[in-house]
Amino acid sequence: MNKKTLNDVQVINKTVLVRVDFNVPLVNGIITDDNRIQAALPTLNYLINNGAKIVLLSHLSRIKEEADKAKKSLAPVAKRLQEVLNREVKFVPHTRGLELETAIKALKPGEVLLMENTRFEDVVNGELVKNESKNNDALGKYWASLGEIFVNDAFGTAHRAHASNVGIASNIKENCVGFLVQKELEMLSQGIDNPEHPFVAIIGGAKVSDKIGVIDNLLKKADKILIGGGMAYTFFAAMGHNIGKSLLEEDKIDLAKEYLEKANGKIILPIDSATAESFADVKAIFTDGIDLPDNLMGLDIGSKSIKLFEDELKDAKTVAWNGPMGVFEFENFKTGTVAICEAIAKLKDSFTLIGGGDSAAAAIQLGFKDKFTHISTGGGASLEYMEGKTLPGIEIIQTK
Ligand code: 3PG
Repeated sequence: MNKKTLNDVQVINKTVLVRVDFNVPLVNGIITDDNRIQAALPTLNYLINNGAKIVLLSHLSRIKEEADKAKKSLAPVAKRLQEVLNREVKFVPHTRGLELETAIKALKPGEVLLMENTRFEDVVNGELVKNESKNNDALGKYWASLGEIFVNDAFGTAHRAHASNVGIASNIKENCVGFLVQKELEMLSQGIDNPEHPFVAIIGGAKVSDKIGVIDNLLKKADKILIGGGMAYTFFAAMGHNIGKSLLEEDKIDLAKEYLEKANGKIILPIDSATAESFADVKAIFTDGIDLPDNLMGLDIGSKSIKLFEDELKDAKTVAWNGPMGVFEFENFKTGTVAICEAIAKLKDSFTLIGGGDSAAAAIQLGFKDKFTHISTGGGASLEYMEGKTLPGIEIIQTK
């Protein structure tokens, strides 16, 4: 990797601004999944042990009006971080001003401060100004003025050009990526840009329109692309099958046809379905073959498809997966996604990668967290990487 990393900068006694992605799910103020907090620990512990004065910045969710701020404070995150770090985390409930500046100046080496949700800057005096999200120049300069070095460790936000990543990075003398971003880039580069063959990609999720870029890019790189999830039904429609009440994107039928022609046999589609009469978690009705009667909708891949996909995965040296095979949130329609998790987990000596929010959430929720070479912490960011796009939050970081 040609970007500067933490090993290329001297952090001792320096005020180090660290952009982390603590955009964690919160239900009634309780964090339901702290994976992103845990993922920042290697960088934070390194900075603590190397005598940096640490100032953390993160967004949490989206702020569209003043009322959003009450529910989207980072205070619960500061509390959780304090527990996992087992040391004090000073929380400043502001994103600018004297209280914040004084608290930063008072930091001693090894101390940690978290400022309030950076997206609070998107709404000022009740007005939606998007200063953070539109990378307001003055805001990026102000935050940059609070520290001496900027570390971008927010992989989940790397596809955004916001004031708290691109803005700070372009207004500070020295910047680098943190250990999480470094690991994400190394893993994604190995899995997507330099895969060992056979390379099998698995693409799922509801819509073809969400995965156009990924299919385009992976058709060039993978040996096989297994397609599952709701998006498979638009492909079936393109082949002239009856898909009953299944999800259909009519305006993507021609594109699906084009992919099938271009793929030259690389695209493998399911051959049976688990269905229901409506979008509900009810007992599955299994159908053989692709065509569905008019009253049914496909909600998961069937057992013959699972077998077909398992066979395709057997000899893979690299597997990249993005998007579940069915409605895995429904007990009755998670079988396909679980089976694919198991099939990938069984592979020995293969490089296995999960990118994308839903498939990563599925794998973790289903108990497969440690069974893959890498599960990305980025939803949109890993999707854009898989599409072959440049990530602005990384692009702006200085090269070695
Ligand atoms: C994510 O959860 O994908 C990142 O934190 C980015 O969040 P955003 O889509 O609200 O920019």
